[in-house]
Amino acid sequence: MRIIQTADYAEMSHTAAILILSQMLEKPDYVLGLATGHTPSGLYRELVRTEQNLGIELDRLHCFHLDEYLGLSPDDPESMACYLRRHLFEPLGVPAAQRHYVPAVSADPEAACRAYEAEMISIGGIDLQILGIGSNGHIAFNEPGTRFDLGTHVAKLSESTRAANARYFSAGVTPEAAMTMGPRTIMQARQILILAAGASKARAVCRMLQEPVSEDCPASVLRFHPDVTVILDREAASGLHWPLPHFKPLPLQVYTNDYDKLGEGETVLIAAPHPDDASIGCGGTLARLKRQGCQLHFVSMSSGHRADIPDTTFEERVAMRMQEGKSEAEVFASSFTPLNLPFYDHHYMPARRDMASLVALMEQIQPDYVFSTSPRDRHPAHRASALIVQEALREYRKGPGRPELWCYEGPWYLFERDDFNTVVTFSPEDLDLKLKGVQAHHSQVSRKRYDLASEALARFRAITVPESRLSSFGSGLQDVGEHIEVFQRLVLEP
Ligand code: F6R
Repeated sequence: MRIIQTADYAEMSHTAAILILSQMLEKPDYVLGLATGHTPSGLYRELVRTEQNLGIELDRLHCFHLDEYLGLSPDDPESMACYLRRHLFEPLGVPAAQRHYVPAVSADPEAACRAYEAEMISIGGIDLQILGIGSNGHIAFNEPGTRFDLGTHVAKLSESTRAANARYFSAGVTPEAAMTMGPRTIMQARQILILAAGASKARAVCRMLQEPVSEDCPASVLRFHPDVTVILDREAASGLHWPLPHFKPLPLQVYTNDYDKLGEGETVLIAAPHPDDASIGCGGTLARLKRQGCQLHFVSMSSGHRADIPDTTFEERVAMRMQEGKSEAEVFASSFTPLNLPFYDHHYMPARRDMASLVALMEQIQPDYVFSTSPRDRHPAHRASALIVQEALREYRKGPGRPELWCYEGPWYLFERDDFNTVVTFSPEDLDLKLKGVQAHHSQVSRKRYDLASEALARFRAITVPESRLSSFGSGLQDVGEHIEVFQRLVLEP
């Protein structure tokens, strides 16, 4: 998340316009998602002014409207669509067929919501979604309490939103409901730009950025998005405590032999998105930590019931996978907790209850090290799990640098050369334990040889890392043994 603090509303609008125009120049068939309201109106004026001054061609631009009052057509002068048409689409010359309005007048609103989502997908999805934030923390018309996994839907507006928007209606009365992209729809945009100006937004901005992620502040869901830019004016940023907590990578560390103590007597929580990911990703290191006197706690974040296990019912698959998770932990003479978090069955969208369960477990286990997948992992369950771990750590954190976060790689996501900063060699006995850990998951290994894949990866890393990462190609090579695992190791600062 990038956070840009500007002096005032004009600078916020100008900064946002430059950012958007520079993106549109790169991709002529850009797809923009557009909020309305007071906040983005300065940005839209800037966009029109700059586009006209520079003579930029926008004839391939597609625009999707974010939300509309239920029952108002784009021709209604009080509709949000009408505002966009007059102030943005017509001056920019966006062709009529490329202006996509929320279908807020429809005999079947549910079907219309689904069709609108399908329309977004058919165009290739939204490149950049512009958002404002309500003083109650809403984004679009997703009011506090909205589930993060909701798509486009009809929403009842809160009294505070109706009061804040009454100024836009000649009769001074805001409609009671709206059709709105849901948090899940918004999160599907490749990039998000959220603007906030004025002291009335300061509290919501704080809740979005600094307080625990919660459906009580819908904007806080944006912390799970990989590419968000927040542009604030000074007043909207006035409640923030700088610097905002962030995960900072530690310097490069190489643990080759047993004299390099990895951690003695430490408590380690290993978060596996599916029951079998821990040994695959970091089993050799776990074996070594165990030998060095650490206590290991294996945690399965999901039940993994979607795994392809022929001729089984849902209940059988859950039971089977939980039993296998337990057996894996037994290989390491350690404990196993099946958290089976709900995000797995909610479009991989983490929610308050996911974080709350993990924080409660951390309070109980008091880990010094937490192992997790990386938020850059492209498998949706792995990514969601990593984000839940990071948010839980923000809430749980104990003193400076504790717990440490160790992100591991795996067959679904391999680190780039500079992504990892920790290299751990492990012994043949450790490898044996790692493979036994992977093989404890019979239902998976019988289908695909993850044991072979993870052994091959550990060997591949041991061959390539000394030259590519440790010696910068060509200079003296460091002996790291035959099998290694690599990690991105992070601490939460400040
Ligand atoms: C409007 C919208 C709303 C506004 C929010 C802030 O399309 O989706 O979420 O962004 O209510 O409104 P302003 O900018 O008027 O303070």
